[in-house]
Amino acid sequence: MKKISVGLLGFGTVGTGVVHLLMNDRQKLVQQTGSQIQISKILVKDREKSRKMDQYDHLLTLNPSDVIDNPEIDIIIEVMGGIDETRKYIHRALKNKKHVITANKDLMALYGTELLQAAADEGCDLYYEASVGGGIPILRGITDGLAADRIKKLIGIVNGTTNYILSKMSHHSVSYEKVLLEAQSLGFAEADPTSDVEGLDAARKMVILSHLAYSIPVTLEDVKVEGITRVAEEDIQYSKKLGYAIKLVGIAEVEDGEIDIRVGPTLLPFNHPLSSVDNEFNAIYVYGHSVGETMFYGPGAGELPTAIAIVSDLITVVKNMSYGINGKHIFLPLQEKKCKSSET
Ligand code: NAP
Ligand code: HSE
Repeated sequence: MKKISVGLLGFGTVGTGVVHLLMNDRQKLVQQTGSQIQISKILVKDREKSRKMDQYDHLLTLNPSDVIDNPEIDIIIEVMGGIDETRKYIHRALKNKKHVITANKDLMALYGTELLQAAADEGCDLYYEASVGGGIPILRGITDGLAADRIKKLIGIVNGTTNYILSKMSHHSVSYEKVLLEAQSLGFAEADPTSDVEGLDAARKMVILSHLAYSIPVTLEDVKVEGITRVAEEDIQYSKKLGYAIKLVGIAEVEDGEIDIRVGPTLLPFNHPLSSVDNEFNAIYVYGHSVGETMFYGPGAGELPTAIAIVSDLITVVKNMSYGINGKHIFLPLQEKKCKSSET
């Protein structure tokens, strides 16, 4: 049987979930891919740290080259986060003809087009399903499931941390600070949760979704962003009495070829399906010209839901390897950009 070797960059919340799935669902992976997938090396920052899965300590390294330049490794899974260093590592991995899977929305929102072009040029795969919506297959939903439709509008609750905070504050009347700490300890929040609570994480995810849905090269500067730090407990309780939930919502719509993208706290009436999306769950409403309304719903953050998206990407990459079609599915924005926000 063919052996496929995987290297991980990062072994935190998501990396642990990936290793767990790869080690515990071996049979499923063999059935799906006809190959045996093994982990060769894992890059970490601190070798002395005590880990949930210490049986893999012998695979840990502090040297990125042991993963990125390792001739035995076929596929790199990037789950370390960050932008500048990670961007260099992914470029180097692609140059070394390694396929890449990433959960890094910060990087994909800022440098996605550049990295996808590099992957296409090298004949490598670059998949990033885990970057939006955790375990919800929303990227494939847009690029494959709704490929035939023209998407008009996306409305998304795409940040698990802020949704967790807002729904706990609404249903249990607890303080913002206390629930943020909870979201951090559950592994939903980013290493620096500022990007969650200030709306930047959601804005990055809306950029990625818009690229795919509209094929327009939007950038973060095109998104009007407001986070939840100014939402007070009284606002939540008062809105509730009036029949509304406050949610951090991202909206991206195209009208007459112009795109308008914004993220901010939004009042949703209780009869709106997005108002009942609670805790770390995410949901993305997609309006297509022909299909009408669809909604993708599921766990938007956390160890195993995010790992499922990554391992599903891994299965696709390994299947692509056996058909010799790597780098052939790269989706690059085709349309010219016309932004409402830049003209008003
Ligand atoms: P995390 O728990 O903080 O883990 C990060 C891992 O990367 C750690 O193992 C860390 O090493 C390693 N690392 C970080 N910087 C490094 C560096 N400069 N050199 C070497 N190793 C480094 O983060 P996470 O929550 O797993 O998130 C990882 C990525 O997935 C991020 O891009 C995040 O935005 C994305 N993501 C997260 C979720 C989620 O629910 N958590 C969901 C979707 C996407 P040490 O262990 O030694 O510290
Ligand atoms: N911090 C992110 C969130 C992780 O809370 O949604 C999932 O992308």
